[in-house]
Amino acid sequence: MENFEQRQHGERAILVSVSVQLLDDLDAEEFRLLAQSAGAEILEHVSVQRQKPDPKFFIGSGKVEEIAELVRALDAELVIFDHSLSPAQERNLEKVLKCRVIDRTGLILDIFALRARTHEGKLQVELAQLKHLSTRLIRGFTGNLEQQKGGIGLRGPGESQLETDRRLIRVRITQLKDKLIKVQQTRLQGRAARQKAAIPTISLVGYTNAGKSTLFNILAKSDVYAADQLFATLDPTLRRLEWDGIGTVVLADTVGFVRNLQHDLVESFKATLEETLEATLLLHVVDSSSPNMPEQIEAVESVLKEIGVDAPILHVYNKIDLSGDTAKITYKAPELPDRVYLSAHSGQGLDLLSQAVQQCLMGQLQQFDLVLKPAYGKLLTQLYTLNVIQSEHYDDEGDLHLSVCIAPHKLEQLIKQAHLPLDEIVGAKSFLFHRVLEEFESKEE
Ligand code: GTP
Repeated sequence: MENFEQRQHGERAILVSVSVQLLDDLDAEEFRLLAQSAGAEILEHVSVQRQKPDPKFFIGSGKVEEIAELVRALDAELVIFDHSLSPAQERNLEKVLKCRVIDRTGLILDIFALRARTHEGKLQVELAQLKHLSTRLIRGFTGNLEQQKGGIGLRGPGESQLETDRRLIRVRITQLKDKLIKVQQTRLQGRAARQKAAIPTISLVGYTNAGKSTLFNILAKSDVYAADQLFATLDPTLRRLEWDGIGTVVLADTVGFVRNLQHDLVESFKATLEETLEATLLLHVVDSSSPNMPEQIEAVESVLKEIGVDAPILHVYNKIDLSGDTAKITYKAPELPDRVYLSAHSGQGLDLLSQAVQQCLMGQLQQFDLVLKPAYGKLLTQLYTLNVIQSEHYDDEGDLHLSVCIAPHKLEQLIKQAHLPLDEIVGAKSFLFHRVLEEFESKEE
């Protein structure tokens, strides 16, 4: 609700994209979306090119005057730079522009503040905001800040602290760090319990707006907030669910990535990615309809590399309803799925995702004909729960004949756990029976 209110009376903002020596790889559309996600009403988008940054204003003084003119003419309340500014540059700009100035880090932190949902997320955002703002306490422009109830870059849990002095901020930072350690310990305990129970964790990662939350909702049949804004997700959201052919898994939704995310921001939000580090399998969700798809994939993979993720990755090329691709699985090694093309929106290809994840976690799937005696009800229930039965019929003796599609390893596990005779169920001629027999004999030797 709060977000909508803020968006209705959006702050009147001018955006400034600065490309230094044409090296910066800027994405104007993404910057606009970020600003809109923070609730800005965009009045004008100015592009500036420079050989090197100006130490005083970051951009040249002539350009600053030009923007100051625009601020006056359009009655702007805020100027947002798609770049990091030093605290001094921010102050100097505010003095000349006579309105508030925030940089890319401030903007992203503001969006994080709007989106943080869990206790841990809120603490992290407050900590990051305080660290960012503690060097910026003296602003070049205060205007009617006192009367304002917030505004982009001034919102979030840190807001009430911003007026206090640096000493209080330092105290608060220490408190927050202590609280975070406790919250993280609790979360780690939950993770340790899951690992002990050997429950696979599947983490959804991807560029912001790729469709992670939409996919998460469908898979978890839950209702995590999904919206056409960047960063609709901040905290890792976990769900326990039954995955076809695998059984219980934990699905984790994570914060969306963006390009040029400053290192300290990556650090601040590392805990949201920690689930990713521990994952058994990563689903890297890609917006296959985005013109910037290759850069977005690269941005995500370089951060994953930076934080040291080594879990296998399955790429999920989402939004095929927009890109026109067909639903399919493509393979890297002959056996290992690399990509699944699907649409979380229309549901096309979701069955392929189910299969590909099974293949990644359990190995290739195979067709088996099973014969179950009436007494083997427990195994039957498990096969139903795993949703692997393709056809079934009873014979005259009351035995149930099933055709199932499952990873051999999983089937073997189920039969062994139920202490049932393998040869009777899969048939003494079946390859599974022989494989288990060979394994048994090699152990005997
Ligand atoms: P962040 O929270 O910013 O990281 O985004 P996200 O990756 O969680 O994306 P989200 O699920 O919020 O989806 C972003 C937008 O894309 C929403 O408007 C979705 O409705 C839309 N979307 C997701 N999947 C599809 C799809 O398969 N097809 C189409 N056409 N739109 C989709």
